[in-house]
Amino acid sequence: MLSYRHAFHAGNHADVLKHLVEVLILQYLVQKEGKPLRYIDTHAGPGSYALKGSFASKNREFKSGIARLWRRDDLPPQLEHYVNIVRGFNASSELLHYPGSPAIAAKILGATHRLQVFELHPDELSRLGAWAGRDRRIKVQQADGFSALKAILPPLEKRALVMIDPPYEVKSDYDAAIAALEVGRQKFATGVYALWYPLLDRDDVSAFVKRLEKMSVKSLLVEFPVQSMMGEGMRGSGMFIVNPPWTLQQQLEVCLPYLHAALAEPGAAVWSLRSQGE
Ligand SMILES: C[S@@+](CC[C@H](N)C(=O)[O-])C[C@H]1O[C@@H](n2cnc3c(N)ncnc32)[C@H](O)[C@@H]1O
Repeated sequence: MLSYRHAFHAGNHADVLKHLVEVLILQYLVQKEGKPLRYIDTHAGPGSYALKGSFASKNREFKSGIARLWRRDDLPPQLEHYVNIVRGFNASSELLHYPGSPAIAAKILGATHRLQVFELHPDELSRLGAWAGRDRRIKVQQADGFSALKAILPPLEKRALVMIDPPYEVKSDYDAAIAALEVGRQKFATGVYALWYPLLDRDDVSAFVKRLEKMSVKSLLVEFPVQSMMGEGMRGSGMFIVNPPWTLQQQLEVCLPYLHAALAEPGAAVWSLRSQGE
């Protein structure tokens, strides 16, 4: 479990989907001026990624992700906002740095909001601590983000986005992700939850998605394949959003065709969006 390093994958197609969804949700939630919000990240990672660093430059996954959007001047406005946030982490027009999920949240959230972020890996934790620095809004904790939810929900603010972005290196992450959403439903039913998962040509992953769809919650399920669904390795990724802002589906309907044209390989399966009520 402690061998996973997200820097190998920073800025790839899965990060683009995940962070676009994060931006769209947070943008909506911060519109309620003056109402404090908590951002909870159960699997925070190191906070930011150097794309010329030894990990990210190994497979250069960002080349088929954020790099394909970097110089585009025809981005739909919702997608442009996300790309502009990434541009804000780069001093020049060269793509050198990519922000992690907590850094994106810290950029969008104002002084009245709070961030509570969990990370287990000691190296990632020390990078995360260095990234958070003296920002008094951010609380960094070395703990299992799945089980922490039981203790910290509901948050004082009574408004929150909970990002759940496990590495799925161990199969128990699938059960733990569903259990975390169940805890959320019981302890803080009005919270917004965004769970990321890989699209894999595997029966256990299909069964996992069926279990998500059977949960009795208001939700939006996004699937974004960048390859055909058959074959080895990650075919794309998906997100399951509980209590999505009412604007999210329509925003994604605009962004996903553009993203698919930009990031998917020829012959890739089509993207899908499925919403369900309680
Ligand atoms: C996919 S990465 C997170 C990437 C991050 N959300 C981002 O967008 O930059 C998953 C992270 O979770 C950490 N991790 C793994 N199991 C964990 C657990 N049970 N609780 C907290 N962190 C965990 C890993 O060390 C890794 O840094």
